[in-house]
Amino acid sequence: MALLSETFRTADWKAEKHVPVIECSDTVKAGENFPVKVTIGKEIAHPNTTNHHIRWIEVFFQADGDKFPFQVGHFEFTAHGESMDGPDKGSLFTHHEVTFSMKTGKPGTIFAASLCNLHGVWQSAMPIKVST
Ligand SMILES: [Fe+2]
Repeated sequence: MALLSETFRTADWKAEKHVPVIECSDTVKAGENFPVKVTIGKEIAHPNTTNHHIRWIEVFFQADGDKFPFQVGHFEFTAHGESMDGPDKGSLFTHHEVTFSMKTGKPGTIFAASLCNLHGVWQSAMPIKVST
């Protein structure tokens, strides 16, 4: 039986366009909101067409020593050039990038996962420290 941890793929984001890139300060202040940006295709652009696109990014945070992660947010990208005239004939495209804010009192790891409609789920992680 395959496990999701084996099916959710990862790689170096500089060489693999599907890997989410997590950008935020590596040390944040305890209890203060800080911005987190997650993008796909930072080095190698990922297509955004009706037939091939990123559907969502999901973010979790697991504090050091905690048994389970908590979901931070689920961000859907639902416009990919669809039109009554046919695929890619529309003028609206959601770019697969999200910036949000969060706060924590404990150090831990931010996990991001993204779904490509053709190439599956890809994940990455970023540890953060907390200062007082
Ligand atoms: Fe893809």
